[in-house]
Amino acid sequence: MSNRRTFAIISHPDAGKTTLTEKLLLQGGAIHLAGEVKARGAARRARSDWMKIEQQRGISVTSSVMTFQKDGVVFNLLDTPGHEDFSEDTYRTLTAVDSAIMVIDAAKGIEPQTRKLFEVCRMRSVPIITFVNKVDREGRSVFETLDEVADALALDVVPMSWPIGMGGIFQGVMNFADETIARPEGDSREFLGKREPATDIPEDIAEEIELARAGYPEFDIEAYRHGDLTPVYFGSALKNFGVAELIDAIARYAPPPRPQKSSEGTVDPERPDVTGFIFKVQANMDPQHRDRIAFMRMVSGTFKRGMKLTPSGLGKPIAVHSPILFFAQDREIADTAEAGDIIGIPNHGTLRVGDTLSEKNDLRFTGLPNFAPEILRRVVLKDPTKTKQLRKALDDLSEEGVIQVFYPEIGSQWIVGVVGQLQLDVLVSRLEAEYKVEAVLEPSPFDTARWLKGSDAALKSFADFNVSNLAKDRDGDPVFMARSSWDVGYQQERNPELTFSATKER
Ligand code: G4P
Repeated sequence: MSNRRTFAIISHPDAGKTTLTEKLLLQGGAIHLAGEVKARGAARRARSDWMKIEQQRGISVTSSVMTFQKDGVVFNLLDTPGHEDFSEDTYRTLTAVDSAIMVIDAAKGIEPQTRKLFEVCRMRSVPIITFVNKVDREGRSVFETLDEVADALALDVVPMSWPIGMGGIFQGVMNFADETIARPEGDSREFLGKREPATDIPEDIAEEIELARAGYPEFDIEAYRHGDLTPVYFGSALKNFGVAELIDAIARYAPPPRPQKSSEGTVDPERPDVTGFIFKVQANMDPQHRDRIAFMRMVSGTFKRGMKLTPSGLGKPIAVHSPILFFAQDREIADTAEAGDIIGIPNHGTLRVGDTLSEKNDLRFTGLPNFAPEILRRVVLKDPTKTKQLRKALDDLSEEGVIQVFYPEIGSQWIVGVVGQLQLDVLVSRLEAEYKVEAVLEPSPFDTARWLKGSDAALKSFADFNVSNLAKDRDGDPVFMARSSWDVGYQQERNPELTFSATKER
């Protein structure tokens, strides 16, 4: 069986994702100093012009991939932007993982972004391990938290560990599997690695534990892998409690690379030839260069440097000479990569999000959706002679997945769609920095968009009546621009021979 575990951490801002990431990497030996993830992030940010927004708003817009090893298991951790605003980036990153860790603040429980990200995971049956963080501080009662997860997310919950008090009376975390306790030590009150037999538990907490172990079901790996059950670990990323248990849980329980649906049926990771798909494209940090890095999730085969792969969008093979592996310390040039791994492929815009890459060019992966935008804006140029540059920029940026673009059938006012406000700021800033195009975004009459599918005749007769609501996306596919979700329902009812889809699968 594969020793790869490819996963993401989902959480609401401030729950402790950065801290946990750091600790996971430390345990995996990937970084040596706590604080490096953030520090390096800041240094990286300073370098790039277009990421001014990151500095201004103190957030991370870019996702990255971190690879580390422990006990013979290779972990690929895909970072999702940690801001309340969503981008398609975040969604798409979740199409490239096999499982996720959901981090919850012990005092706050399930917060809005946790829930949204969870829904994306559920849509794709991505199994979830829950980490209730910050038990070194005052939190809600453990039962309350467990019940909230179960109710809010409609999942079975199985506590795998239990905090011995929280906040001022925090005395450690008991691990149910081996009946040991990790206790705080020294002035820093951290866990330093020494486990003790589970004795001297205060009576009230011993009672809780007894109740919990009788009341919750046993862990069932099949139910977890189906996405019906979540094992719940308690800990403190800051003080190192529960981190080793998490790594262990991912190694033991989280699924290895899973089969992926394609136009030719399901592709197993054991298939010998190389296949993969692009889930993210990131422009070079240097705005003077138009290089990009496309992130490919390997679905099957063993990749070797210099190999020729055919991108579905191009039709002819390209030689991948300098692929990049993302070890946390440094980017390293990859020599080989296997199913589950992510490799970065430098290119000049030939690779697009959603592209399949394969040795034999005999299939297309499905299920990498474009999501219906929640915010639509008209793009208005300050200098109207820059139309050509704008079109190029919008095409490029939609290729990268920064925005979606819609070209209305009537009129010349192009519309961009995003799922989070932040993407709009990124758009305006990158138009200026990279394309020297000054634009403003104005309200559009439309509220949402739906991709249309149906016979040519059905599409044509729909177009006859609704041409002012029709647009083409960057691939030339027809899109219905709706003034409201009521409008969508109304048109759907009147045009049963057409499908109105909120996502578009490439
Ligand atoms: P995020 O990436 O999910 O947004 O969260 P991040 O790790 O940055 O953590 C948010 C805040 O919560 C940080 O404090 C961090 O130190 C704190 N934190 C994370 N895990 C724990 C934990 O287990 N226990 C306690 N008590 N605190 C935790 P901050 O003061 O906002 O940031 P910083 O100045 O420490 O970086």
